[in-house]
Amino acid sequence: MNQKRLMETARSLVAGDKGLLAMDESNTTCNERFAKLDIPQTEEARRAYRELIVTTPGLSESISGAILYDETIRQKKVDGTPFVKALADLGIIPGIKVDTGARELAGHPGERVTEGLDGLRGRLAHYSQLGARFAKWRAVIALGEGLPSMGCIEANAHALARYAALCQEAGLVPIVEAEALMDGAHSLQRCFQVTEETLRMVFSQLHAQRVATEALILKPNMVLPGWACPHQESVEELADATVNCLYRCVPASVPGIAFLSGGQSPELASERLNAMNVRFRSRLPWALSFSFARAIQQPALEIWMGEEAHVATAQKALLHRVRCNRAARRGEYRAAMEGVPK
Ligand code: 13P
Repeated sequence: MNQKRLMETARSLVAGDKGLLAMDESNTTCNERFAKLDIPQTEEARRAYRELIVTTPGLSESISGAILYDETIRQKKVDGTPFVKALADLGIIPGIKVDTGARELAGHPGERVTEGLDGLRGRLAHYSQLGARFAKWRAVIALGEGLPSMGCIEANAHALARYAALCQEAGLVPIVEAEALMDGAHSLQRCFQVTEETLRMVFSQLHAQRVATEALILKPNMVLPGWACPHQESVEELADATVNCLYRCVPASVPGIAFLSGGQSPELASERLNAMNVRFRSRLPWALSFSFARAIQQPALEIWMGEEAHVATAQKALLHRVRCNRAARRGEYRAAMEGVPK
């Protein structure tokens, strides 16, 4: 492992005010999102959609790295340029999702463990040859009656740490994604507790597996109440809860924290990231950035609808979202940027 190069890549991914674009939906997830909008669920439709994303004019002003999926990393633009090359030519670092999905955890009804360690060393070497410089693995933690269990948190944290160690061995920066889900009626305090428990376990396992914290990016959930919780706190309260939770658990050696959006509306995701950067700007040991999928892509997808004629308008919507998130990194996002009075 060349630790200096890994650290440089990790720092580049969170440098300045840019963030990450997650476009690594598995075929199943991508098809589900297409099906809801009656877009054909074909390889060509998925390719055309990803071409729309990577050819969005101005994308690289706000995006430092893009996370691809196994199918996408092998796909090309209509002119024959591989997506990986198109991104790299723009100065956007290509990354790759390497987990193979979350499956039911035996003996733990309602809980899942993320799989994909078998053969991972070989797959990482292959992806590195294809041009990937970083990787992603997502663990999901469900909240509910008696959930999560310690067994679920431990199993997921252990797998994340084994993945991260293999990534660093292969010269890829691991994005360590641990997502406490927003599904349910749990309170903000409960999400804080579970996020803290999870992140403490993740960093303990990373340490046990000798992962260099200087050469990884953490991708956590924001600390939020469940969707169905009757009390929804203010943006400022959520910003404070999230950053205070991260202060407790994330070593200062980690160069950056890039949030997932988790199903929040695009506007709320920007607003909440902005509030964290406004309120804590001078007191953060790590960059606070974004690695959104839905909160960046969804408006564009709903405009595109599989129609060539809508590509340019969809790209404008995508560009708008990445610019809003870039502003949020600087603490300069304003609701007025959305053009809708709030
Ligand atoms: P969302 O921003 O849609 O939560 O997706 C982020 C991600 O990469 C999930 O693995």
